[in-house]
Amino acid sequence: MNALLAVEGLTRRFGGLVAVDALSFSIAPGEVVGLLGPNGSGKTTVLNLLSGALKADSGRITFREQAIGRLPAHRIAQLGMARTFQLVRPLGSLSCRDNVLTGLAFGRDRAWGAGVRTTADELLDRVGLGQAGDTLPGELTYIDQKRLELARALALKPELLLLDEWLAGLNPTELEQGIALIRGLSDQGITILLVEHVMDAIRSLCGRLLVMNTGRLIASGLPQQVLADPEVVRAYLGDDGDA
Ligand SMILES: Nc1ncnc2c1ncn2[C@@H]1O[C@H](COP(=O)(O)OP(=O)(O)OP(=O)(O)O)[C@@H](O)[C@H]1O
Ligand SMILES: [Mg+2]
Repeated sequence: MNALLAVEGLTRRFGGLVAVDALSFSIAPGEVVGLLGPNGSGKTTVLNLLSGALKADSGRITFREQAIGRLPAHRIAQLGMARTFQLVRPLGSLSCRDNVLTGLAFGRDRAWGAGVRTTADELLDRVGLGQAGDTLPGELTYIDQKRLELARALALKPELLLLDEWLAGLNPTELEQGIALIRGLSDQGITILLVEHVMDAIRSLCGRLLVMNTGRLIASGLPQQVLADPEVVRAYLGDDGDA
C-alpha cells in the first residue's frame, strides 16, 4: 500500500544548529507511530515541518501523494493533517464550542451554519468536554485545554493526526482515558503520529517507533526491538554514544 506520509531527507537548521538532519521515514494508512527522542532531539520541529508551521531547508514531504513542503499550514490542514501543540494554544476569547467551530469552518468540509453546532458539541463530548460548550478555554484546567485542542484538531476530520506530548502531565486515571481515546481514534481509521515520553502509552498504542537523537533518526521498528536497542538506551541516558 502507498504511504500516507513520506519524508525524505528532511532538514531544518536554526542558525548553526541542525535541528532536523536528513530525516527520512514513511507512515502507512492506519498506523499509530510513536516519535521518540530525548529533549531537544527535534521531534516538535518535525511536527512543525510536517504541518507547515515551519519550512524545511531541504528535503521532501509527500502527503496523500502530494508534495506539501511548500504549502501553507491551512492548505495542509485542509488536505487532512491536523495537530495538537506541545504548549496548548486555544483561541482564548472564544467559547470552547466556538473553538471547535473554527476547526469545522476551516477544515475539509468548510462546515458552517446551524447544524455544525451539534457536530461541535459531539466532538467536545468525544474528548470528555460535553459540558464545556459555553465555557471559555481559560476557565478550563490544563488537561481540559488539551482535550479542547484535540477536539479542534478532530474537527478538521484528519486522516493523519499529529499529537505532541498530548498525554504529558495526566494523572493515572486521565492517562488511561487518554490512551483509550487515542485508541478509539485509531480504530476509527485515523492514522496517528505521536510524540510521546509516557512509556505506558507508547507500549500500548504504537505499532512502530521512530527514535531521534540530535536531529537524526537513530532507530525505527517494532516497539520492543527499538526500546531494547543499545543506541536508543544510550540516547535516553544522556550519553550520545561517542563509544
Ligand atoms: N524556533 C526555534 N529557533 C531556534 N532554535 C529552535 C527553534 N525551535 C527549536 N529549536 C531548537 O531545535 C532543537 C530541537 O527542538 P525541538 O523543540 O524540536 O525538540 P523536541 O525533541 O521537541 O524536544 P522536547 O522533548 O523538549 O519537546 C533544540 O535544540 C531547540 O532549542
Ligand atoms: Mg517537543
